[in-house]
Amino acid sequence: MKIAVLSDIHEGLNRKKTGADMMGVLKKWITSHSPDVFIISGDMTAGPEKSLNLLLQLQQSCPQTKLLFVNGNHDVYAEDSKSAYQTLLQFPGNLGNGPVELNDHWVVIGDGGWYDYSLGIEGFTQEQFSIGTFNDFTWPDKTYAHWLRPDQEETNQYLEKLESWLEKYQGKKVIMVTHFVPFSRFLFIKNDLSWDFFNAMMGSARFGELAVKYGVKKYIFGHIHTRYHEQSHDMEIICNPLGYYPDEWNSDDAEEEIFSTIKVLEI
Ligand SMILES: [Fe+2]
Ligand SMILES: [Fe+2]
Repeated sequence: MKIAVLSDIHEGLNRKKTGADMMGVLKKWITSHSPDVFIISGDMTAGPEKSLNLLLQLQQSCPQTKLLFVNGNHDVYAEDSKSAYQTLLQFPGNLGNGPVELNDHWVVIGDGGWYDYSLGIEGFTQEQFSIGTFNDFTWPDKTYAHWLRPDQEETNQYLEKLESWLEKYQGKKVIMVTHFVPFSRFLFIKNDLSWDFFNAMMGSARFGELAVKYGVKKYIFGHIHTRYHEQSHDMEIICNPLGYYPDEWNSDDAEEEIFSTIKVLEI
């Protein structure tokens, strides 16, 4: 079984900056490579309705491939992020709807996740992270995402849901998916507070702890626009973002960048 992986497509921004038909390129890749499953681990574009429509259209135009998705922070940029999250659940392949069994052995368990400052550096209070401003820069989620509860409580909701599913599927081989970062070693510490302060908003160490506790075989995430693929003990860890054109791309051509970036796992 072939599983394709990509995150952080940021369709709107990248389409505007490159002029390319991002979805047309994705469709072309899927049609020519025919993976059984395509996992998009968040940041499809900005705003829930737009993300939902892109996912529905892509699934409709590639019916042979099962599209799976977890929401990123950009997908829930809305006046009410909780209802944005609910809107995105209308996509049948949204893993927030529940685990997806691929065959008798493998199951995909995931949800977008959020952050609880557990990856934050020392020297700042929870309140400072909660305000999310360092010098004159405020973390964009503080402006564009609106949850009813503090970040830590939102993260707890995700953790509880994920753990209940992981518990239920013990004995199966699990591919776990979140948008947010599960392990601190994937963060850059630049020893520059104007960067390092915002590592608090990258994810939660508790996602990683869950993955280790339940012996997850593969972990797929996104959010940081740096590509990683490593085998760590018994876990294969993949972060495979497209990221922003031009700074984070290797090519000026959208088709070349997308085709060379998508990763295919075999199970
Ligand atoms: Fe992103
Ligand atoms: Fe993100």
